[in-house]
Amino acid sequence: MDVKGKKALIFGGTSGIGLAAAKRLLDLGAEVTAISRNPDRVTDIPEGMKLKKCDVRDEAALQNLFAESAPFDIIVSAATGGDRAVGPFLEMDMAGFRASFDKMWGYANVVRYGAPHLSETGSIVLVSGAPARKIRPGQIAIGSVGGAVETFARSVAKELAPRRINVVSPGFIDTPMVSLQGAEREAFYAKTTAGNVIPRAGTPDEVAQAIVFLVTNDFVTGTTVDVDGGWLIS
Ligand SMILES: NC(=O)c1ccc[n+]([C@@H]2O[C@H](COP(=O)([O-])OP(=O)(O)OC[C@H]3O[C@@H](n4cnc5c(N)ncnc54)[C@H](OP(=O)(O)O)[C@@H]3O)[C@@H](O)[C@H]2O)c1
Repeated sequence: MDVKGKKALIFGGTSGIGLAAAKRLLDLGAEVTAISRNPDRVTDIPEGMKLKKCDVRDEAALQNLFAESAPFDIIVSAATGGDRAVGPFLEMDMAGFRASFDKMWGYANVVRYGAPHLSETGSIVLVSGAPARKIRPGQIAIGSVGGAVETFARSVAKELAPRRINVVSPGFIDTPMVSLQGAEREAFYAKTTAGNVIPRAGTPDEVAQAIVFLVTNDFVTGTTVDVDGGWLIS
């Protein structure tokens, strides 16, 4: 797909990975709308990017947003959905474990209600995460969610054809998702990535490059691209 002049909706496009994907698509000439729960909080809005407010868990609001934006060619969802539970499963608060799946419900809502308005040559990209296939201690909730996202995309790809759907799976990426600052932040990423083949956190733009690849390459569907500094083989 040549994205020039194409209409793109980026859920979670106001921060981190989603914002980086929005910037790359804008640079390639797409008409980009970034959507999140609190778009008014964004300070770094690229020129030409539209903002809309919507919670991906709100099915009625999402259906309205799609109807008023239709037709469109590109959907990216990087919206985290809600709070994520971290820690050993056998000590886990089950409400927290269930809430971690808000990311999956959000992605499912976006595909269910967005696909009917997506052009025949359209493309969807979802974001999972390396714990989907290599879990570290304490990551059972996010690993389970990531696994669900990848299986979902593979499973729904045939129904969606000729439209395409793919997943990008990041490792540790330096985004506002981690609120630590300064030396504490540097120490966190140094520690968490020390065992990786590429021992550093990735940048949001390194993930956005993979998102753009999946949007633009018309021969790729139902698959996952890892952008993880070698986490899976480390
Ligand atoms: N950063 C990493 O290390 C990493 C690693 C693996 C996977 N991932 C995945 O990559 C995706 C993006 O992460 P990120 O690091 O870029 O996070 P981020 O910087 O915190 O951005 C998350 C975005 O999602 C939006 N959002 C969250 N819940 C939403 C909801 N219910 N409805 C609509 N928008 C919502 C946020 O805006 P509002 O708050 O305004 O809604 C924000 O724009 C997530 O799915 C995350 O799990 C990240």
